Amino acid sequence: MVVVAILAAGKGTRMKSNLPKVLHSLGGKTLVERVIQSTEPFSPTRKIIIVGYKSEEVKNSLNHISEIEFVEQTQQLGTGHAIQQLLPHLQGYDGDLLILNGDVPLLRTETLNNLLNTHKNNQNSCTILTANLAQPKGYGRVFCDHQGIVQQMVEDKDCTPQQRKNNRVNAGIYCFRWSELAKFLPHLNNDNAQQEYYLTDAVTQVGKVMAVDVEDNQEILGINDRLQLATANDILQARIKEKWLLAGVTLNDPASITIDETVEIEPDVIIEPQTHLRGKTLIKSGSRIGPGSLIENSQLEANVTVKYSVITDSFVATGTRIGPYAHLRGHAEVGENCRIGNFVELKNSQLGDRSNVAHLSYLGDTTAGTQINVGAGTITANYDGVKKHKTIIGDRTKTGANSVLVAPINIGNNVYIAAGSTVTEDVESNALVIARSRQVIKPEWKQKTD
Ligand code: UD1
Ligand code: CA
Repeated sequence: MVVVAILAAGKGTRMKSNLPKVLHSLGGKTLVERVIQSTEPFSPTRKIIIVGYKSEEVKNSLNHISEIEFVEQTQQLGTGHAIQQLLPHLQGYDGDLLILNGDVPLLRTETLNNLLNTHKNNQNSCTILTANLAQPKGYGRVFCDHQGIVQQMVEDKDCTPQQRKNNRVNAGIYCFRWSELAKFLPHLNNDNAQQEYYLTDAVTQVGKVMAVDVEDNQEILGINDRLQLATANDILQARIKEKWLLAGVTLNDPASITIDETVEIEPDVIIEPQTHLRGKTLIKSGSRIGPGSLIENSQLEANVTVKYSVITDSFVATGTRIGPYAHLRGHAEVGENCRIGNFVELKNSQLGDRSNVAHLSYLGDTTAGTQINVGAGTITANYDGVKKHKTIIGDRTKTGANSVLVAPINIGNNVYIAAGSTVTEDVESNALVIARSRQVIKPEWKQKTD
C-alpha cells in the first residue's frame, strides 16, 4: 500500500517566469504531469499533489488526469512544511508514503520500483534516492556509513566547505513509513541558511534510513532554472530519438529534429532535418516528413510526404503529398493520393481522394469531393465578418485559376468554374459557370489618347 505525494507548491523563482515552475513543459508534458505519470504503473492508492503558488493554474492543467487529490500549502515555507500539510489528510494511515519532487521530471518507473522494493525488503523507516554527481552543487548532500545507512543530510547552502566536497546527493525522492514521519513532522524547525522547514531534517530522525543510488544520474536532474530545463530536454530528446531509431525510423540529422514523447512513429518512416513532431501525432510506415516541417496532434497515414509544411490537428490519408509551404489546421482531412501544393492553406475542410489543390489557395470550412482540381489561387470566402460559412464542392469539379467561392455555397459534381470567377450562387452538377465581366477590347486606343 503506497500513497504518493508530489511537491508542487513552489514558485520556482530561478525560472524567472510567470508560469509556476512545475507547469513548464518538457517533451509535450508539464513537469508535474511527467512526475505523476511515472507513478502510474504501480497504482498508488492515493495521489496527492501539494499545490500553493498559482494553485488554480496547476489544478486546471491537470484536470484531464483522474483520481488525483490536491492539498494546499498556502505559504511555501519549505519541503518539510509542505509535507506537514498532509497530516490532517493521512490521519491513521498505516502504509508508506512516496514523496516526489514536482521538479524532478526524468525519473523512470523502474527506479521508483527499485526504491519501493528496497524499502519493503529491508523494512526501512525511510529509503531515499541518491546519486554520486561529479558536480553536486545545488543539491543536498547525503552522508552514509559503509552499509548505505544514512547518517546525515545537509543542504548545499548549509554545508561546510568540507561537507560540500561530498558527491553523494539527495534526489528529492523518498519513501517513508508514514506513521514514523508523522510523529516527527510537527517538530521540524527552520533554523538553517534558508530559514525553511526542510523535509530532509525529518529523514535522519526516523528509524533505519537507507540510500539507494540511481542507476543513471541523468534521471535525478532537478529543474530549478531554464538552463536545467534545456539540459533535461536534451536528455529526453536523446532518449526519445534512440527509441525511434532502434524501432526502424530514419532520422536524418537527429540533432535538428525534435519529437515529443507523445508521438508514435511506425518503422520505415523517414524524418528529414529541421522537423518537429509534437503532441498526439501518429505517422505511419513509408512516410517521409520534412525537411523543415512541424506536425502537431495529427495523423499521417502510410506513404505520405510532407515538405516545408505545418500540419496541426489534421488527418492525411495514404499516399498524399503535402507542400512545399502548405498549412493544414483546424481538423483538415485530406483523402488518399491527393496533392496539396505550394502556399495552400486548408482549415476545417475535408478533401476527397485523388484531389489536387496545387497552388496558392485557401479552403476554409469546405467539404470537397473526390478528384477535384482546385485551380491556382482559388479562395473560399468563408467569413462575412461575423460568421463562418460552409462551401460544398462535388466530385470531379474544377475551379479555374483565381476563382472566389463566396460561402455559403454549394457547387455540384463535374462543374467547371471559369478562371477569375466570383461565384456567389449555388451551381448544379455538370454546369459551366462564368462569373466575371466580359473582356472589352478597344482597338487603336493608344492613338486616340495621343
Ligand atoms: C530539494 C532538497 C535537496 C535535494 C533537491 C533535489 C530539501 C530541503 N532539499 O532542494 O536535498 O537535493 O531537492 O532536487 O528538501 N516545494 C513545495 N513547497 C515548499 C517548497 C518547495 O511544494 O514550501 C516544492 C517545489 O515546488 C519543488 C520541490 O518542492 O517542486 C523542491 O523544492 P526546491 O525549493 O526546488 O528544493 P531544492 O532546493 O531543489
Ligand atoms: Ca529543486
